[in-house]
Amino acid sequence: MSSFLWWQRGIVYQIYPRSFMDSNGDGTGDLVGILSRLNYLEWLGVEAIWISPIFPSPMADFGYDVSDYTDVHPLFGTRDDLDRLVEAAHARNIRVLLDYVPNHTSDQHPWFVESRRSRADPRRDWYLWHAGRENGSPPNNWLSVFGGSAWEWDAPTREFYYHAYLKEQPDLNWRNPEVRAAMLDVLRFWFERGIDGFRIDALRQVFKDVELRDNLPNPGWTPSQPPYESLLPVHSTDQPELLELVAEFRDLADAYPERVLIGELWLPIERLVAYYGVGGRGLHLPFNFHLILSAWNPREIAALIHTYEAALPAGAWPNWVLGNHDRQRVASRVGAPQARVAAMLLLTLRGTPTLYQGDEIGMQDVPIPPEAVQDPVEWRLPGLGRGRDPERTPMQWDDSPNAGFSQVRPWLPLAADYQSVNVAAQKSDTRSMLSLYRRLIELRRASPALSVGSYHQLYVDDTTLVFERDAGDQRRVVALNLSADERALPDAVGSLPVILSTHLDRAAEPATVLRPHEGVLLDSR
Ligand code: GLC
Repeated sequence: MSSFLWWQRGIVYQIYPRSFMDSNGDGTGDLVGILSRLNYLEWLGVEAIWISPIFPSPMADFGYDVSDYTDVHPLFGTRDDLDRLVEAAHARNIRVLLDYVPNHTSDQHPWFVESRRSRADPRRDWYLWHAGRENGSPPNNWLSVFGGSAWEWDAPTREFYYHAYLKEQPDLNWRNPEVRAAMLDVLRFWFERGIDGFRIDALRQVFKDVELRDNLPNPGWTPSQPPYESLLPVHSTDQPELLELVAEFRDLADAYPERVLIGELWLPIERLVAYYGVGGRGLHLPFNFHLILSAWNPREIAALIHTYEAALPAGAWPNWVLGNHDRQRVASRVGAPQARVAAMLLLTLRGTPTLYQGDEIGMQDVPIPPEAVQDPVEWRLPGLGRGRDPERTPMQWDDSPNAGFSQVRPWLPLAADYQSVNVAAQKSDTRSMLSLYRRLIELRRASPALSVGSYHQLYVDDTTLVFERDAGDQRRVVALNLSADERALPDAVGSLPVILSTHLDRAAEPATVLRPHEGVLLDSR
């Protein structure tokens, strides 16, 4: 196991900083809050934390609209707080990853303020400005991920600028060498300060077709999907030059010891794996979101694992994600009983798991009354269930008035059930979801088969998935029942002793049957 690096062996835990822990009583989480909860993260057993953006920002997209890449938003604290957090995390062997947002800045970033001043401004070319068509319409049909045209008309300078997300998030022009240099300096700045790596935001968007060709209609689109998906973004995303840039990111990261680059890439598997790069000059971990996208049934999941494993280039390390700050919570998607099976799947698959804060206590999406909505996406894509507040509600630490998250009413409502679903209650309950996560993490970390071993599917049908993980002479079998019925285990594995059941109520006995919504980890030497 020692030949594997920390980001291969361990678990990444995503912190959404606004909602993790508020130390100064303003209702929003902060860096000192995270610091105060490091003992919990150490106890849970995670290897690294990735913190969503903490940089100065007007918060049009809650920090994903950065107005200064090398400072900390006062809401979250100071650069000194971050240094202290990194030091304290490192003292516990926890690495710290930040979020790098290369595709766009805030419209309040000084670069954009200058860029929009005049067509002749030296910063003009730092963003994507274009004349409209003759009839005054935008340069092409490209759509914003958050709805509407991706082009915003700037009346004073009589040109459009491009924004893949909100109009408050203008896209940078990465073909401009000065932009490239300035943005690479950002990575260097944080690496020098001891940051262990980055999750790279919206990576597939970074280059767009120079000729601005129209995107093509998506024949499979229906109005129940976001309007963005009505076109195939063939000319506005995933362009060949991006791989060259990623290689440059990698060279930069490799100048420091054991740094990691994780890319947010919503791409089909065959395109996703291209971002591992050629000759190791790519991302360490192009985020694999396909478990989020897959239907929750054993045959589809088995096929997905097979396709992904088969597509991985030589030397590439896999990874899996079940949830994040942009998607429905896994416990809401698959239901509370299945969420335990999902946890076992995530933590026994081959490849680095990323765990989203709160999933370890089975947090569900919280219904947000209209007057409490914060996420602009809720308004921009009404009725599609794409608003992201429900999965961003405050972490539930205990049963005190603000769930131990804050002294005051938090920025988003708390879950109605926080008095029973919280870290404190689950810590003292040996059969809780949290106890399950902790046991799984502990077993994974201690077992070469589970953390770095090979994967082989043993059996699949409409309800059950069985696979094994092997390393040296250690062999572990995982059997998951994705249904609400009792299922007999295939004979070959039914006599193996149970190491862990997701119900946390049996061990050592032969498995023979899987109860409803049960997953078991079996010892097969
Ligand atoms: C990524 C982030 C999301 C953000 C978007 C624009 O998808 O995860 O939260 O809104 O990029 O930066």
